[in-house]
This record gives sequence, structure tokens and C-alpha cells, in this order.
Amino acid sequence: MNADILKKTAKQMVAGGKGIIAADESASTCQKRFDSVGLECTEENRRLYRTTMFESEGLGQYISGVILYDETIRQKAGDGTPVSELLAKKGILPGIKVDAGAKELALHPGEKVTEGLDGLRERLAEYSAMGAKFAKWRAVITIGQGIPSDACLHANAHALARYAALCQEADIVPMVEPEVLIDGDHSLERCMEVSLAALQKTFEELKGQDVLMEGTILKASMVISGKKAAKQSSVQEVAAATVKYLKETVPANLAGVVFLSGGQGDEQATAHLDAMNKIGGLPWPLSFSYSRAIQNPVLKKWAENPAQNAKAAQDILLFRSKMNSLAAQGTYSSEMENDRPY
Ligand code: 13P
Repeated sequence: MNADILKKTAKQMVAGGKGIIAADESASTCQKRFDSVGLECTEENRRLYRTTMFESEGLGQYISGVILYDETIRQKAGDGTPVSELLAKKGILPGIKVDAGAKELALHPGEKVTEGLDGLRERLAEYSAMGAKFAKWRAVITIGQGIPSDACLHANAHALARYAALCQEADIVPMVEPEVLIDGDHSLERCMEVSLAALQKTFEELKGQDVLMEGTILKASMVISGKKAAKQSSVQEVAAATVKYLKETVPANLAGVVFLSGGQGDEQATAHLDAMNKIGGLPWPLSFSYSRAIQNPVLKKWAENPAQNAKAAQDILLFRSKMNSLAAQGTYSSEMENDRPY
């Protein structure tokens, strides 16, 4: 493990108001997204769509890194440039999703544990040779009647810590993601309780495996009411609660925190991030690592006419990236949405 490399990469991921695009949808998730806009989910369409995004002129102004899927890191742009090189040329760090997905947790109906530790050391070496500088692992915590259980929180936190240690051994920055799902009718208070427990457990396990905090990025979910809750939380409530839970659980020497969007609308996810940064006074940068909240309008535009809409889709990607970058600095305002190119 080279601590200097890890610290440098982690810092670069959250520096200057830049953030991350999550483009690591698995083949089955990608199928859902493409189905929703009437696109055929072939390997070639996935390659074309993603390389169109990555070729956007000036993307590196707002974006520090992109999370890729195994298939994508092996693909090339139209001119033969490997995807990770295409990103690196723009000053964007290539990242890679390394978990093998969330599977049913034994003896715990309705709960999941993320798999993928077997052979991970060897896979990380291969990804590193292909240019990956950071790696994501997503744990999924569901809120429901009597869940999450301690068993679920523990199993997921332990796996996150084992993966993070393997990443750092290979000089790859771990992007540790314990996602508390937004699905359900739970209140913001219940989300707070579960989110606190999940993060406490995660950092306990990370410390237990001697993971270097300065070389680690947390990918956090926000504290928010469930999608089907009768009372929906306001932007200020989400911002205040999320800042509070992070302050209570995240070590001050962690390199940075980025958020997932988890099914929030694009403008909503930007507004939440901005409100948190306007509160300020935190020891780590707060930025974004959105997939749907950035890509939904981009994919929709591209799907309307892939042969002609490349530039229009790229303009949308640049716009949302810019809005989120401003939000990461607390300088966004909703009036800016009047200039939306979609
Ligand atoms: P969403 O922003 O769509 O939640 O995706 C982020 C992500 O990478 C989840 O693992």
C-alpha cells in the first residue's frame, strides 16, 4: 500500500467542486434504463451511449471521475481509444464497480448482502493495469418492518471493510457505499436512525481492518423520508438531517463524501447537495456521485435519435454536471434551471 498515492487520488476525486458520474450500471440495470426509453440494450448500444457521454467537450471541468462497469472498461471509443484512456486524457479518473451485486441474506428474508470478495485481489490487479484508480462497492440496506437487522448491518459493513482493505493494498481508492434505500413509507426520523446505525457499523469495521481514512471516499445516501411516505421531507430538512448524521459518524480525516441520488429527481438531488454545502462547516468536501439524477435526461435525449442527438445529449450532461458542481460548492440556485437545455 502506497499511502501517498491513495491520499492524492482520493483528494483529486473531491477537489474544486468536482464530482463523479456513476456509469457502472450492471447489464440488468442498464436493460431497465434502456427499456424505459425504448432503446435496445445491446453491447454496441451501451458502448455508443457511454462513449458519447465520455467524449463531451469540457466534461473535466466539472467531473473528477467516472465509475465504469466491467464491460465498459474493456471497451473502446469509435477511434479505438480505450475508455479509461479517453477519460484520463480529459483529466478524469477512471473508476470501476467491483462488487458482484446484492444477494439474499441467509436466514433474513427481505434483506441483502453484497457479494464479490472471492478473487477480488486478482480482479483489482487487472483493473489497475487497465487504468482504474478507484473502485466502488455498494451495500444495500432496506428499511421495513423489523429490518434492517444487526446481522444485515454487520455482514454488509464487514464486506465493505474487507473490500476497502483489498483496494488499498492495490493502491486503488475504495469508494465505500452503504446505501439506505429510499423505497418504502418510512419517515425521515426512521431513515436517520437506520442511516446512523449503518454508518457507525461501517466505520467500526473499516477501522477494524486498518483502512486508511485519508485514502477512502464514502458514497453516502441522504437522510430523507421514504418515497411513499405520507409526509415528504423538505430540502432544508434533508440537508440538516444528512449533515447531522455525517457529523456524528464520519471520521474527520476521511478524504471526502459523495452522494448517490437513489431515485431522487435531478433538480431535487442538486438542491439537496447545495443546501448541505450552504450549511457548511464540515471537515470533508461534500460532492456527488449520481447516476440517475445526471443521466436520466441525457439518456432520454440520446434515445430519441442516437445518430443525431449526440451533441444535444452531451449538452444536457454538461449542464447537469455543472449544476451539481456548483451545488458541491454551495453556489447553485434553482433559477439556474431556467437555462436547462432540456
Ligand atoms: P443513483 O444516483 O442512480 O442512485 O446511482 C448511484 C449509484 O452508483 C448507486 O450505486
